[in-house]
Amino acid sequence: RKYKYILGIESSCDDTSAAILRNDVMLSNITAGQEIHRQYGGVVPELASRAHQQHIIPVVEAAIQAAGIGKNEIDAVAFTRGPGLLGSLLVGTSFAKSFAMGLGVPIIEVNHMIGHILAHFIQEEGKEKEVPTFPFLCMTVSGGHTQLVLVKGFLEMEVIGETMDDAAGEAFDKAAKVLGLPYPGGPLIDKHAKNGDAGRFEFTFPKTEGYTYSFSGLKTQFMNFINKEKQQNPSFVEENLADICASYQKHIIDYLFMKLETLAAEMGIQDVAISGGVSANSELRSRLQQVGEKKGWNTFIPAFQYCTDNAAMIAITGYYKYLNGDFATMDIAPKARFKI
Ligand code: KG4
Ligand code: ZN
Repeated sequence: RKYKYILGIESSCDDTSAAILRNDVMLSNITAGQEIHRQYGGVVPELASRAHQQHIIPVVEAAIQAAGIGKNEIDAVAFTRGPGLLGSLLVGTSFAKSFAMGLGVPIIEVNHMIGHILAHFIQEEGKEKEVPTFPFLCMTVSGGHTQLVLVKGFLEMEVIGETMDDAAGEAFDKAAKVLGLPYPGGPLIDKHAKNGDAGRFEFTFPKTEGYTYSFSGLKTQFMNFINKEKQQNPSFVEENLADICASYQKHIIDYLFMKLETLAAEMGIQDVAISGGVSANSELRSRLQQVGEKKGWNTFIPAFQYCTDNAAMIAITGYYKYLNGDFATMDIAPKARFKI
């Protein structure tokens, strides 16, 4: 047959997602989020596994139905092996094995971070989208990771720099918590920042060598700043929310780009992409465009549905591994820590 149908399953954190691709074309991409964590101010692993276990069958059924294919047309099942929460990964991994066994098709293990990067190659039905040319640089910014990756081929990548502690998404979420915003706070900081003056408050950059990032000091700096201001004026946050969000957001983006720009120049790279949950940030997206225009880069920004966790990115990675005949055996186990 000319076409391969890949079912992708993603369950590494708090989103249960299933997608069907026909070769590299997305036919469906269905995600169930988990509201339960909001009241706890962060993802509670035990609750996440339970919710995945409840969501996974309806989500997979919905994805197959939305794709308009029959179960028996699926050629392989790709699933996220890691990195992520072990209990969450176990649900997706076990489901993928059982489902594939029932259908008599192979399974394909996928690294979640590679998935975020290969999301740039997902095509939509009826429109040919431009994709990055190898080698390109991808800055992956999510709730768990911050990486500068040199992408040499679909399955050939090298992490050049990454964070030594918190991820960029955590820098957003933890600051949002200090401001009294619900989890995950990243999108809310983005929203409030739209009406703010980004030059109003200044923060200092963490001292990190080379292409290493550090975000944990930034969180402490932010907390101290807010606490100090609140001593003078208890309603400081309410009165200045937009300016606080805009200034803090700009600072994170300045820091991310400081290293990205240096690296692109050093390597003489023209194609630059962003990916991961934080690449949904409107200011980060427009910054990449601006910097790209100035430097003459070809820039790649994923569509919103492929920024945050989704199964289409797992399925596209699965598709390229399928072409290489790279299948997993049925005794495979998930890996909470899993390097690219
Ligand atoms: O990739 P993702 O869905 O999950 C992980 O693999 O971690 O990323 C989630 C992260 C969260 O920290 C969330 O606050 C952040 O992405 N995020 C944003 C925005 N949308 C999601 N951060 C800033 N601005 C946004 N618009
Ligand atoms: Zn992710």
